[in-house]
Amino acid sequence: MPENETTAPSLENLLHETRAFPPSPAFAAQANAQPELYEAAEADRLEFWAQQARELVTWSTPFTQTLDWSGAPVAKWFADGKLNAAYNAVDRHVEAGLGDRVALHFEGEPGDTRTVTYADLQQEVSRAANALTSLGVEKGDRVVIYLPMLVESVVAMLACARIGAPHSVVFGGFSADALRSRIADAEAKLVVTADGGYRRGAPSALKPAVDEAIAPKDGEPATTVEHVLVVRRTGQDVAWTEGRDVWWHEALEAADTFHEPVAVDAEHPLFILYTSGTTGKPKGILHTTGGYLTQAAYTHKNVFDLKAETDVYWCTADIGWVTGHTYVVYGPLTNGATQVLYEGTPDTPHRGRWWELVEKYKVSILYTAPTAIRTCMKWGEDIPAGFDLSSLRVLGSVGEPINPEAWMWYRRVIGGDTAPIVDTWWQTETGAIMISPLPGVTATKPGSAQVALPGIVADVVDDEAHSVPDGGGGYLVLSEPWPAMLRGIWGDLQRFKDTYWSRFEGLYFAGDGAKKDEDGDIWLLGRVDDVMNVSGHRLSTTEIESALVSHDIVAEAAVVGANDETTGQAVVAFVILRGEHADRGATPEGAAQVQEELRAHVAKEIGPIAKPRRILVVAELPKTRSGKIMRRLLRDVAENRTVGDATTLADSSVMDLIAAGLSSAKPGSED
Ligand code: WTA
Repeated sequence: MPENETTAPSLENLLHETRAFPPSPAFAAQANAQPELYEAAEADRLEFWAQQARELVTWSTPFTQTLDWSGAPVAKWFADGKLNAAYNAVDRHVEAGLGDRVALHFEGEPGDTRTVTYADLQQEVSRAANALTSLGVEKGDRVVIYLPMLVESVVAMLACARIGAPHSVVFGGFSADALRSRIADAEAKLVVTADGGYRRGAPSALKPAVDEAIAPKDGEPATTVEHVLVVRRTGQDVAWTEGRDVWWHEALEAADTFHEPVAVDAEHPLFILYTSGTTGKPKGILHTTGGYLTQAAYTHKNVFDLKAETDVYWCTADIGWVTGHTYVVYGPLTNGATQVLYEGTPDTPHRGRWWELVEKYKVSILYTAPTAIRTCMKWGEDIPAGFDLSSLRVLGSVGEPINPEAWMWYRRVIGGDTAPIVDTWWQTETGAIMISPLPGVTATKPGSAQVALPGIVADVVDDEAHSVPDGGGGYLVLSEPWPAMLRGIWGDLQRFKDTYWSRFEGLYFAGDGAKKDEDGDIWLLGRVDDVMNVSGHRLSTTEIESALVSHDIVAEAAVVGANDETTGQAVVAFVILRGEHADRGATPEGAAQVQEELRAHVAKEIGPIAKPRRILVVAELPKTRSGKIMRRLLRDVAENRTVGDATTLADSSVMDLIAAGLSSAKPGSED
């Protein structure tokens, strides 16, 4: 199946939003980004980026070339320049006399805190870089990081960057199997992990998953991992392999606090981050150093209007996702920001935890996901009303379309009706924000990401790649290369070309449906491929289907993302059981048992985030005559809609059977 199997987005639900919120004159006057920024980028796009790269990033060897697109679609930005990302994020601020500035206000889930200045960070990153070196990690070697949200997580990423070893952070919620495939694909030499982390008030183990992930399995050899560096977080007992496992604190204590950052080429790999695609295997998205850092810093400064001396910034994303890479680590630290780093969940120990932190640290810029906002809406506005949120002056949203109701609630209840909201569209692949209002310039509209940032060229096109007129809908594309763009899929250039560059000649195809409103503003309409978006996390239908059919009792599976009020989408699976197990789905108890068994299996194969909300045992799946599963029809069923046009089905009675079986099924338990 081609990677880009697409269906045109529905234009039925076109929004007619007339509300607009221009920036206050006071905000506009002080904003970093002024209207001239668009003009400068328009006048000479490449020179504009070169200027950003010179102003926001420190180069040990200045670049003379801006963009080399001769190897398209693999771009080279600032290729003859050299720099070090960790030096930019840490050392240069200390050299500028800002060593005492707080870089991180760490807040652990149990309430323990730690204040880390830029000078502290320099020492710790230097020690960690020396420790990695003494464990045999060299420039170009890959390091997998599998950690909760800790100071050490930021330090580990920067230590890798400091020695030129690309990191690959794997979200701590992924299972041992998911971790194993990522370690194997990246051929990692070392893994950094922790004994465990705190989750909802209790310690939860992490290291056993690493032990399992790197051991030999089912005839597959052990992975390439030589050492496991273990942060002590919870103090729980861990199994220990002498010679392989090393305590983080011991390695760092033994290491020198001086380390000379390794200057690397602008195109040296900075990280690989795995993300779900439309086929089973996650893609290792490759980002390099100079262009990525430039756009990370540029967007962070202008989209959030960062004033490094006075702002307290907080991005709630986990470092396991790209938002954590660009807007917890590289963007804010390169800009010398002070930020909050929080280990836990919004509702532990109480549902006002986030707002308590905003009050405590006087957070002025908050960046979070629509699913979190909708959850807080559900809990009720009296909870945030109990805290002083008056320090907030800019609010950001990312990860999925934000519905106008949630947008209005965010602005009114959290932003005191004054803080501008920036709805930022981007992807793991784009590396940094691409489409967003500028808070001092744009009159914001609830629900729309609106305009490409200065320096970015985006469009909405129809099936034939023609730009649609205002009021029209189609596919979101990016027409010109941008500095933070992915440089490929790790080890698979062909897949990179097929996935992003083959749908429309010469255009980057993002996989999102979009429309332009009457003003030409862009509205994102969700994915048009088989990628789901659950609580702002990307999940692949095929990946979950593969996990389901890897269970002994499953013959066939089809997965869809059904609309969900809180999480955006929810995973719903339809499974056909193997002949000898077919009876198990016949009774409600049997079906419930199958559902729980398979949910647990998906959690083991991929991780708890991928667990289907509902799993329905069916006798048949709707297929076209050519054998393609018609997910559109299953989505209708999952969303309790009348099933749409089923005339292309090989057997049209299938949908009646499925709908009949459905009424007795119950959703799985929430967790
Ligand atoms: C979706 C997260 C609408 C989109 C940074 C994209 C959004 C995918 C928005 C990338 C937004 C992200 N409005 N949709 N503001 N931001 N998306 O790689 O479908 O985890 O393709 O990157 O999230 O998800 P990823």
